[in-house]
Amino acid sequence: MSQRTALPVLDRRHRPLRDLRVSVTDRCNFRCTYCMPRAAFGAGHAFLPREQILSFEELERTCRLFASLGVTKIRLTGGEPLLRADLPRLVERLATIDGVELSLTTNGSLLERLAQPLRDAGLSRITVSLDSLDPDVFRTMSDSDVPVSQVLRGIEAAERAGLRPLKVNTVVRRGVNDAGIVDLARHFKGSGVVLRFIEFMDVGTTNRWQQSAVVPAARIVERIAAELPLEPVPAANPSDVARRYRYLDGTGEIGVIASVTEPFCGDCSRARLSADGHLYTCLFATEGTDLRPLLRDGSPDERLTALIESIWQARTDRYSELRAVTPPKRRIEMSYIGG
Ligand code: GTP
Ligand code: 5AD
Ligand code: SF4
Ligand code: SF4
Repeated sequence: MSQRTALPVLDRRHRPLRDLRVSVTDRCNFRCTYCMPRAAFGAGHAFLPREQILSFEELERTCRLFASLGVTKIRLTGGEPLLRADLPRLVERLATIDGVELSLTTNGSLLERLAQPLRDAGLSRITVSLDSLDPDVFRTMSDSDVPVSQVLRGIEAAERAGLRPLKVNTVVRRGVNDAGIVDLARHFKGSGVVLRFIEFMDVGTTNRWQQSAVVPAARIVERIAAELPLEPVPAANPSDVARRYRYLDGTGEIGVIASVTEPFCGDCSRARLSADGHLYTCLFATEGTDLRPLLRDGSPDERLTALIESIWQARTDRYSELRAVTPPKRRIEMSYIGG
């Protein structure tokens, strides 16, 4: 296959295609209230049937095509990606793609056992979601029986396996877990873990999002800095979603992801692939393009590459910047599109 990374594919707003987020399953063993609320994702919910889910061969081929178009970062997501059977075998395949950094975002519940196999398979980095250290608040946010201690053991296992720098994501909901922000910061300060606080976003249509439940990132930083002094750090990469801050005493850094109060669409270089092979050009998209027919009908690589390229070139998305003006009626759920 041709490698042509010299000229990145640009969208209509001159943003290059650099990152691909790949959902490997739409299933999850948690029911986080902001992502898969049980009222919408209960026993009757229809998950994707097995035959519609891309195989490891199809995923590897698709990722290679994206790499040939200039993608340098691939992140595996879900649902919960560690629920996908034999995930380390997929990582092994994707880790052989030249010039691509491979990472994964997980809820951490299965990480204690899988951290080392994933590392051995060639995974570079990992991000674990953890919304509270308080067992009751954790249970309320995740709506699961997995104890917070299990996630913490997963984080330790990932560190032992050398999956560094490890990041921890905390979605903040006003009145639910915001009282624990400083506890989380203290817990990870000095550990090498980069803790990132995420503004609760209006992804999908089931999480009953309200602006009043969002704690603005600026307030989060103020609250932490009042007890643990911080200073801003310049972004490593313009398309990074997090704004970075470091502790003045040199014991590490935190980040905030302010998609609601300070949208970052201007530098957004992320494409998303759902587990059933639909390509989306925005987290808040209403429509995707099904790549599966071409993946399964014997079409040559060139045809798929041309399709992906034309989709990216037509892209104008900047949902977070337009949120207040034109909220779309139907949006894809986060557990399907992969966060
Ligand atoms: P690295 O920067 O490579 O560590 O990863 P990341 O922060 O892009 O990935 P992660 O899965 O940790 O996502 C962090 C948060 O940012 C999640 O809540 C994502 O849903 C959100 N996020 C990631 N990309 C986008 C995006 O393009 N738009 C918006 N609005 N949110 C995003
Ligand atoms: N708002 C903000 N972040 C969310 N995530 C899931 N749903 C939401 C939401 N509504 C986070 C997860 C995970 C990442 C992929 O996205 O907690 O860390
Ligand atoms: Fe599962 Fe992650 Fe969604 Fe929580 S945020 S329900 S852990 S996919
Ligand atoms: Fe990118 Fe869409 Fe997120 Fe804006 S809202 S940063 S365009 S994914």
